[in-house]
Amino acid sequence: MMSKKKIFSGIQPSGLLTLGNYIGAMRQFVELQDEGDCIFCVVDLHALTVPQDPVALRNNVRSLAALFLAVGIDPQKSKLIVQSQVKEHAELGWLMQCVSHMGELERMTQFKDKSTGKDVVTSALFTYPALMAADILLYDTTHVPVGEDQKQHLELTRDIAGRFNNRFGTTFVVPEPMIPKVGGRVMSLDDPTKKMSKSNPNEGSYIALLDEPAKIIKKIKRAVTDSENEIRFDVENKPAISNLLTIYSFCANASVEDLVSRYQGVGYGTFKSELAEAVVQFLAPVQARYRELVESDELDRILLTGAEHASAFAEKKMIDVKEKMGLIPREKLSTLTR
Ligand code: AMP
Ligand code: TRP
Repeated sequence: MMSKKKIFSGIQPSGLLTLGNYIGAMRQFVELQDEGDCIFCVVDLHALTVPQDPVALRNNVRSLAALFLAVGIDPQKSKLIVQSQVKEHAELGWLMQCVSHMGELERMTQFKDKSTGKDVVTSALFTYPALMAADILLYDTTHVPVGEDQKQHLELTRDIAGRFNNRFGTTFVVPEPMIPKVGGRVMSLDDPTKKMSKSNPNEGSYIALLDEPAKIIKKIKRAVTDSENEIRFDVENKPAISNLLTIYSFCANASVEDLVSRYQGVGYGTFKSELAEAVVQFLAPVQARYRELVESDELDRILLTGAEHASAFAEKKMIDVKEKMGLIPREKLSTLTR
């Protein structure tokens, strides 16, 4: 019999989340809750690898935690944690730095992308993947749902786990990445050849999950379209309309084929205003639940339960890891002094 999957994933609290994050990442998280034991993590320590304003960071952490719940992460099924609230992440992160190599960290494309041309590059930005490996390995994770861009970090995690196991004896589970196949990429509203991204300086290029209805309507109205006033799904020749159809299909829970036949002979104007309505309707309950949660004690309770549950596992794991490496865990002191 296959044992139950152990699933872990993290998102950085870096401000707002877009419909791209939802369709590309969070939707999978919600579905995975029935497939295994899940931990979802607000990776605030990773956010600190670039300069952060303390007040903004605190707000962003609460905001992301509330959004996880608002999109359907169910605290009865999954654990929701804030990385810095389970101290073993940082502790194991150090140990992982001690078994990762400069050369392999230097090869990480995310580090190159995030450091090129910056005035300040922290040493933590460089060792970031060692902390990510710790997040995953700490819980004997078997599966990690991530976007394509995190594939290289996952490979490194697997290499580190394998190296550790070879050197110190089997300790870590070597995790599998789960990368969504097609459909996992929502494109920008102003340029359908680019990924929808919150870091795009043009606000009109993305729909944030917390955008107000009027803003959503305006952004969709201004979204670029393709030549010929015809609604059909053809990523190559009609990338803009195909992207809007993907968004529509997700928000209205309708198949692309059904939408295409519904809009036969209908112009872009009507299509866009009905799409905007569908997006607004889809986000309304998410936003309402978000507002209920973000400043609530309920959110604190959920995070506390998550942290306690995760710590109980992580503390035990750290004793094993430390002993394997030749450190003396405090928990073992009384038996040693005799
Ligand atoms: P980021 O916002 O880039 O830190 O990404 C967080 C998660 O959302 C990752 O798993 C990404 O792959 C996913 N994601 C971000 N933007 C998009 C997009 N436009 N389409 C699909 N998935 C996305
Ligand atoms: N590096 C990931 C990102 O930028 C976030 C992350 C940190 C993560 N730790 C993780 C993702 C562990 C999966 C598992 O998207």
